[in-house]
Amino acid sequence: MKIFTPLFVGALFLAGCATTSSDSSCISSGTRWTGGNSGSSSMNPGMDCIGCHQNGGPHYLVAGTVYSNGTDADGCDGVASVSIELKAVGTGETVTATSNGVGNFYLNSNQMFPAGTKYTARVIANGKARAMTTPQTSGACNSCHTADGVNGAPGRVLIP
Ligand code: HEC
Ligand code: HEC
Repeated sequence: MKIFTPLFVGALFLAGCATTSSDSSCISSGTRWTGGNSGSSSMNPGMDCIGCHQNGGPHYLVAGTVYSNGTDADGCDGVASVSIELKAVGTGETVTATSNGVGNFYLNSNQMFPAGTKYTARVIANGKARAMTTPQTSGACNSCHTADGVNGAPGRVLIP
């Protein structure tokens, strides 16, 4: 029996490091990220991914989080399996990202138009779409789509 004790303690330690916990103030999902800044596709939902991801970690041109509630706080998990379609102004070319289990989505430079291209966006779920008709160049969705909304954005990136 004794030989298993260190393993058991190890398992408890890992459980203590779980990166998600329930949080009823997160209306979209009922859960939040608790993993700090440790690198993960589930990390820091709601926060300005690109602010970090152009300097450290993998380099992304587009990243954000999609929610069903417009005022969910930073760290709250969002909605899975939603399509985020970006359309280049002028050429009409489109690229699509899909939100992962915590609502995060991201595109690297091979998956996105050249940096600086003006684009519009549609969030597509359940056969419906919600559109951003004002063209943007920055792919840092969460930098404007905060819980309160910055630069005229109406809060979070929302499902239709
Ligand atoms: C405070 C800075 C910071 C923020 C904010 C941040 N990241 Fe990260 N992220 C990092 C760093 C640094 C790494 C690399 C960590 C490593 O290499 O161990 C990373 C790693 C990742 C990875 C790679 C994980 C892997 O398994 O290789 C993904 C995907 C990712 N982040 C997505 C996101 C998304 C999406 C957001 C926004 C919702 C975000 N990050 C917000 C700093 C950040
Ligand atoms: C520089 C700030 C900024 C960035 C970056 C930004 N947006 Fe927006 N977004 C806005 C503003 C301002 C509006 C309101 C005007 C409009 O709807 O065109 C808006 C509106 C929206 C809407 C419609 C909101 C509604 O409820 O009708 C969606 C959807 C959206 N944005 C998605 C995105 C996505 C996805 C990204 C990242 C790929 C993104 N936005 C990046 C500023 C921004």
